[in-house]
Amino acid sequence: MRYDPFTPEATKLVLVLVGLPARGKTFVSRKLARYLNWLGFSARTFNIGDYRRRKLGTHHRHDFFDPANVEGNRLRNELATAALDDMLVWMKGGGRVGIYDATNTNAQRRRQVYDRCQAAGLDVVFIESVCEDPSIVEANIRETKLTSPDYEGMNPDDAARDFRARIDHYSRTYEPVTEEDYAYIKLIDVGRIIVMHGIRGFLPGKLVNFLMNLHLVRRPIWLTRHGESDFNVQGRIGGDTSLSPEGHLYAKALSRFVREHSIRPPNVWTSTLRRTIETASYLQVPSMPWRALDEIDAGVCDGMTYQEIAQKMPQEFDARAVDKLNYRYPRGESYVDVVQRLEPVILELERESEPVLVIGHQAVLRMLYAYFMDKRPEDVLNMEIPIHTVIELVPGPYAFEERRYSLSVSDLDGPVGMGSAMAD
Ligand code: SIN
Repeated sequence: MRYDPFTPEATKLVLVLVGLPARGKTFVSRKLARYLNWLGFSARTFNIGDYRRRKLGTHHRHDFFDPANVEGNRLRNELATAALDDMLVWMKGGGRVGIYDATNTNAQRRRQVYDRCQAAGLDVVFIESVCEDPSIVEANIRETKLTSPDYEGMNPDDAARDFRARIDHYSRTYEPVTEEDYAYIKLIDVGRIIVMHGIRGFLPGKLVNFLMNLHLVRRPIWLTRHGESDFNVQGRIGGDTSLSPEGHLYAKALSRFVREHSIRPPNVWTSTLRRTIETASYLQVPSMPWRALDEIDAGVCDGMTYQEIAQKMPQEFDARAVDKLNYRYPRGESYVDVVQRLEPVILELERESEPVLVIGHQAVLRMLYAYFMDKRPEDVLNMEIPIHTVIELVPGPYAFEERRYSLSVSDLDGPVGMGSAMAD
């Protein structure tokens, strides 16, 4: 069952991207969709480039995008309308935030989109991405456009030349967003400058806060559970016990893994619980305890085994099995509560441009993992986050890539993590 932080009659929102090609609109759109879905707001992107490729194929060169190409214009308008129609249908069917990912560089086109959304009772915020730094634009072309199906099998230099010609076509008719009656956010040079106009309300405010943390630095985020604790050995949940002897060995192995995999010491974040702080203590770098990273609070079940819960509180045990996402332990927390308290951690992880090692707990790491791997919280509730394993997440052009290192704690003489790395 899906949780939904909106009340049924709450306003729905359309985010309309604006900007020349290779200005990171799809990067922003996908990030916003991932964040919103993770928070429980059903969001979906509608990308016109995908519509073009699906409906017309991938063979279009720059002249297709020339404003003087009458047939090209007609087809592009048709595609833009088809994507808009689909988005409006999806929103009528229950979608909360539609993300219309297209260039929308023409004021008349924007007015049409705006009017149709308004007529459907939807709020609209334009998000314009402006980037005049040629090195950022060129890097974007090389990283995302040349690997697009549009240029499959083509010489990279020819493809880059064609894409630059495509940008030139759009540049000739580009009208930046200045419409007084619109709500808009302008992101200039990947958020170096952010301009806001007419932004009001809970969700638009949240999105601005999120967008303020955008950057393009590729740094790893490592997620790991603490080393095995005394309660892990006994099969008990919660508590605040110390590491077992095996747990101490893992903490040492982790310290070595970090030395071998990080040129600079990473930022180390733990929960406020003893077992994560003890795991970090071998790293010989300062660590920061976050209350928000504490394990899900099992309330009256804290310190029990699952078997004891099933025997002594069968109704609670069954209720959790039926709806694990929303189930709240008596005097404790649900997974939805955990997602809400993790939001500041997510924003800080997004903002951070140095490597970060998070030493946490299974339920909390499931939710962080869901965010980075673009999964809904309800889809990872039973996913195992194994102990004595480091999950490495590295940002790719549009999505994070995952690698797992299962660290051997029995042989600390061999190179840590080597040979046991499993690419997922
Ligand atoms: C595309 O076809 O790749 C983009 C069309 C547009 O948004 O202008």
